[in-house]
Amino acid sequence: MSYKVGYFVGSLSSTSINRVLSIALMKLAPEELEFTEIPIRDLPLYSQDYDEDFPPEAVALKRAIEGSDAVLFVTPEYNRSIPGGLKNAIDWASRPWGKNSFDHIPAAVIGASVGQIGTAVAQQSLRGVLSFCNARQMTAPEAYIHFSAEVFGADGTVRNAGTEAFLRDYMAEFRDHIQRVLTVLPRQS
Ligand code: FNR
Repeated sequence: MSYKVGYFVGSLSSTSINRVLSIALMKLAPEELEFTEIPIRDLPLYSQDYDEDFPPEAVALKRAIEGSDAVLFVTPEYNRSIPGGLKNAIDWASRPWGKNSFDHIPAAVIGASVGQIGTAVAQQSLRGVLSFCNARQMTAPEAYIHFSAEVFGADGTVRNAGTEAFLRDYMAEFRDHIQRVLTVLPRQS
């Protein structure tokens, strides 16, 4: 059984270490997972004023999530929280009220930072938001990645065997989590 995973990179930076991490994760993932990035860059700032008539970028965002079997968040930590661009995308996807695109979707959270705590605080904040959005989160393993250019090549190559094994296991666990959630009750489309 294969699963479509829509992934978010929470950084808009052209040199994003989280984008590098996302490439590494795709390389190490089990073959049953198929990945498509869900872009957040061109979304306007959310306002309830749009609820009657969403702009094309937001319609595309919601369709991409609803067309995915699961979502993966690969995000930096900004000021001990979720980067604004990513939070804005989640706010769009959660609305209008009653049409929350994350409802019951299997989800996982991971992130890299140059600091030692590896986005732990941002991930806790993101988990709270995803709980409210009723996503079915993988709670373990947690993955707080301390990024170093010695370990991660720009092409997503992982040069440390321990890190590679950890990330490979993380993605295998995510595949199992998706299967577990969707086997209990498939998402309604
Ligand atoms: C940071 N950074 C950062 N790192 C961290 O571990 N905790 C934090 O709270 C913050 N806060 C923060 C705020 C802002 C506005 C910026 C620009 C950066 C540093 C951050 O980990 C580093 O810039 C990463 O390279 C960001 O990830 P991307 O964009 O390279 O994927």
